[in-house]
Amino acid sequence: MKPVALVTGASRGIGFETSRILAQQGFHVIMAARGVDVLEAAREVQSSGSSQGIQADVSKPEDISQLRDLVEKDFEALDVLVNNAGIVRRGSAVEDTTIADWKQVLDVNLTGAFLATRAFIGAMKQRRRGRIVFVASISSTIGCPENASYAASKWGMLGLMKSVAEETRNTGLVVTGILPGSVDTEMLKGSGFAAAMSPTDVAHEIVHLATAAAPALHGSAIEMFG
Ligand SMILES: NC(=O)c1ccc[n+]([C@@H]2O[C@H](COP(=O)([O-])OP(=O)(O)OC[C@H]3O[C@@H](n4cnc5c(N)ncnc54)[C@H](OP(=O)(O)O)[C@@H]3O)[C@@H](O)[C@H]2O)c1
Repeated sequence: MKPVALVTGASRGIGFETSRILAQQGFHVIMAARGVDVLEAAREVQSSGSSQGIQADVSKPEDISQLRDLVEKDFEALDVLVNNAGIVRRGSAVEDTTIADWKQVLDVNLTGAFLATRAFIGAMKQRRRGRIVFVASISSTIGCPENASYAASKWGMLGLMKSVAEETRNTGLVVTGILPGSVDTEMLKGSGFAAAMSPTDVAHEIVHLATAAAPALHGSAIEMFG
């Protein structure tokens, strides 16, 4: 049976490229995103290997439960989880940021990664193997003017990754993070930053962390500047 990977936010950009490379490397890839276009994206990845698309919102506990039920029924456990789904709501100073926008960014970028990790880590620990990659950002290390919700969510994600790594030391799991700078995707549009990397550049390093990187990197986050 093929090893199984779940990539969140897989309909385009970094998540799509990561799914494509994992499928090429022999994984069955479960590609999750909210929009219906994830189904078409999964069909595209099928030309490289094995994949399926699932419409799921990582910020909704019921959607994550459904994903977990599917994995338990068809595959027992994940070999790889890539917490990649993310959004940005830039353009407002803190005093002008609505609670709704603040909460939405935290709910998707941080709580979504928490919910997915919480759902799948138990089975990985039981099998004493599995890798989790958190796609955080270089914004996990700096302040982002008029984009505080994004920076806060990505700093939080780094804290989540490092805490999960401490909880899983010596369990056979490998938990890492990646902190890309500006990547040429939909998310970068309107940011004012020039792209320094392609989504494929970043996806190659995510796949490396998810498959071949030294287990001693457990708890580490790799910065990528392009
Ligand atoms: N682009 C950059 O410069 C950059 C730099 C550093 C880090 N990152 C991080 O890399 C990750 C991928 O970003 P990207 O640049 O590839 O962005 P993107 O092209 O905008 O893709 C984002 C993906 O996340 C999905 N998504 C959004 N909200 C979701 C939700 N609630 N549940 C499930 N899926 C959701 C989107 O599909 P739907 O909208 O259909 O759900 C889409 O598939 C993000 O975590 C981002 O913060 C990006």
